[in-house]
Amino acid sequence: MPTTDLIGSSPKFRAVLADVDRIAPVDSVVLIQGETGTGKEVIARAIHEASPRHNNRFIALNCAAIPGALLESELFGHERGAFTGAVTEMKGRFQMADRGTLFLDEIGDLPLELQPKLLRALQEQEFERLGSTQTVRVNVRVVAATNQDLAQLVSKKLFRADLFYRLNVIPLCLPPLRERIQDILPLTEFFVAKSAARLNKTIDSIPDEVVEVLKAHDWPGNIRELQNFIERAVLFSPGSVLRLPLGLKQTVMQRAESAARTLADADREHILETLRQTNWLIGGEGGAANRLGLPRTTLIYKMRKLGIEMRRCQRPRPIRQLADGRCHAAANC
Ligand SMILES: Nc1ncnc2c1ncn2[C@@H]1O[C@H](COP(=O)(O)OP(=O)(O)OP(=O)(O)O)[C@@H](O)[C@H]1O
Ligand SMILES: [Mg+2]
Repeated sequence: MPTTDLIGSSPKFRAVLADVDRIAPVDSVVLIQGETGTGKEVIARAIHEASPRHNNRFIALNCAAIPGALLESELFGHERGAFTGAVTEMKGRFQMADRGTLFLDEIGDLPLELQPKLLRALQEQEFERLGSTQTVRVNVRVVAATNQDLAQLVSKKLFRADLFYRLNVIPLCLPPLRERIQDILPLTEFFVAKSAARLNKTIDSIPDEVVEVLKAHDWPGNIRELQNFIERAVLFSPGSVLRLPLGLKQTVMQRAESAARTLADADREHILETLRQTNWLIGGEGGAANRLGLPRTTLIYKMRKLGIEMRRCQRPRPIRQLADGRCHAAANC
């Protein structure tokens, strides 16, 4: 299987590659779902290239990019004079993909009125060109993709249920980048090398702190967003060390800080609540440490770190060790 441009070794991405290997040899329709920029087209190509059809054509059609009125003719072709402006006959994408693979991107945007014709083409591998009564037979494997929830479109009657079930023979879900953090470093290295070559620059070092910032971002635009971002970073890096443009670094840092703050707040609240329940008894059988499943010293350390004593006492006082060896937080807290 050609994996040259398929970067990633995270468990989730390896599972996708294993699916590609299993799916490639058969002719069943594949429905690739995933957020924008997760690599749906790249995976569709990988399926084609790993399939017995790889010597024939991979034809892609983005159903959202072509006005509804023209889509039927793009898909199935037309005869000369079939409609105003059809000055010559034209082969449709289905016919171009004969013996190969037809990739129907953004399938959720296929107009309802065209859906029965696509269903028939999928089921019977035949159709008529616009303006013709002659049936064209083809041998096409269809791979469709969408970032919409097709099942939801079906329930809203915006997509035909019969076509959905026909497309959903082999569903393949691509994980968002934030669920494959392990792939961020290899993808970054790959895109840095590509962008540097294109921009005629030399970048020979990617600092750990840069990688940490990239890992902390949630990448709503997924791999495409990372790729574009790296291109910008390469362009603006003054020397041969990759530097991040300020905007992202700040956003990521602020988000990480506020996530850490939220965690600490939750931790503090939980400890305070337990201390109230134990009447501020820390050690011993009925103490907060026991209830929290922590060694006494760990709880004391955490309390100091979270500033619990300081916050609750009028006059900060150290945690006292009682004569019996048990600990109480400051008595007048
Ligand atoms: N595993 C990968 N390794 C390297 N590059 C990748 C990988 N997956 C995707 N890319 C790159 O990320 C970009 C987005 O990929 P692709 O166009 O396949 O995503 P998509 O899911 O079809 O996006 P959209 O929903 O916006 O159409 C492309 O430039 C592609 O080359
Ligand atoms: Mg796409």
